Formats: sequence, structure tokens, C-alpha cells
Amino acid sequence: MKFFLDTADISEIEEAASWGALAGVTTNPTLYSRVGGKLADFESHIGRICQIVGPDCPVSAESVAMTRDEIAEDGRRLAAIAPNVVVKIPTMVEGLAATRMLADEGIRVNMTLCFTVPQAMLAARAGARYISPFIGRFDDISEDGIQQVADIVEAVSNYDFTPDTVRGEQLEVIAASIRSADHVTKCALMGADIATVPFGVLKKMVKHPLTDAGIDSFMKDWEKVK
Ligand code: E4P
Repeated sequence: MKFFLDTADISEIEEAASWGALAGVTTNPTLYSRVGGKLADFESHIGRICQIVGPDCPVSAESVAMTRDEIAEDGRRLAAIAPNVVVKIPTMVEGLAATRMLADEGIRVNMTLCFTVPQAMLAARAGARYISPFIGRFDDISEDGIQQVADIVEAVSNYDFTPDTVRGEQLEVIAASIRSADHVTKCALMGADIATVPFGVLKKMVKHPLTDAGIDSFMKDWEKVK
């Protein structure tokens, strides 16, 4: 399983990158507005994130356009920021059409706001490089977010989706809208390719009270040795 950080916060990205396990970043309009971002600075902000994480880490930047041509235009502009930019597009008819246009031009797409297997299958066939099923938001409406990601992971694994025949890259499922370390456990057990996690969840993933207690007792005993 790879870990992406689900944030537009530069200091969180710098800190997480220093931990050595960061494989990518996902942003969305809400996350960008949360760090006080302004439209005029959006592209330079994405460029800064791309610089921090380096060329091997994909950085998802979302289009907010509503028609296929506008989304594709947005996508081309975003993809021109850096080679590791992935264009994030909502799973809807115009989004599917734009995904096909961009995929045919060799631009990677992350189809987001995906909630069902049929949506995921359509996104995969339209040429998405990544599909992002949301857990927390599905749970919020009393559905089973984890089961839904498990179903999508299984359905995708039934077929050979290689959207990027030039680079030979396979479609990957990004478990998104993750709210807890337990969500990460369940996604790892089902074989989700990637978990995109908020920084708060990433910090919780490192911690265990027995680890803290063990460090504490080792330190105390080492004092006796001195
Ligand atoms: C990531 O790609 C998604 O935009 C993000 O995980 C959504 O998370 P939320 O449902 O907690 O806003």
C-alpha cells in the first residue's frame, strides 16, 4: 500500500515527506480553501507541492469546470504545471468524456467522488489512471464506505486496466475520505493500492500506547545502566 497525503498544507506536506513514506499528494477545492488559498495562486501552489514531493510523487489537482471541453482545458493547463500533476475530475458524464480526451493525450486523471462499482468501471474504461472511492462520506449517509471500497478493489482486479499504455502504468484505487487509522488497516487488508490520508490520521497511524510505554521503560532502564 502506498500513502498519499490528503492536504494542500505546505508545512504538513514537508513534514510528511521527511518521514520517508510519502508517495503522493491529493488536494481538492475544500482543502485549498482551508489553507487560505486564492484562485490566482492555485497553479503556483500546486507547483510548489510538486517541487517538495519530487517528480516521482503524483499530485492531484482538481478541475471545477462542468463541461467536457472546459474540464479538458483545465486539465491541460494543470498538467502543464509539472510532469507529476494528476488531473482530478469528478465521476459524472462530462467528467468521463473529459477523462477520455485527456487520457488519449497522455495526461493522467484521478476520477474522484466515486461511490459505486458501476461508477468505478466507467471511470476505468474512460482511461482514468486512478479511481478515488470515498469512505467517510459514504459512512456519513449510513452506507458502508469500507465495503464499497472493497467491492471496487475486487471489481477492478477482475480486469486488466492499463490506461497508460505508453508508460505501462496500471489503474490504481485510491481509498479516499479516510477518517481513522482503522480505515487504513481495513483498506490495507483488502488490498487497496493507495490510501490518501489527512495529516491528523497519518500522525495517529504512527502511534501506539505500548510503543510509547516501551520507549519510556527502555529509557528508564538505560539510566540504570549508565
Ligand atoms: C481526496 O482525494 C478526497 O478529496 C478527500 O479524501 C475527501 O475527504 P473528505 O470526505 O474527508 O472531505
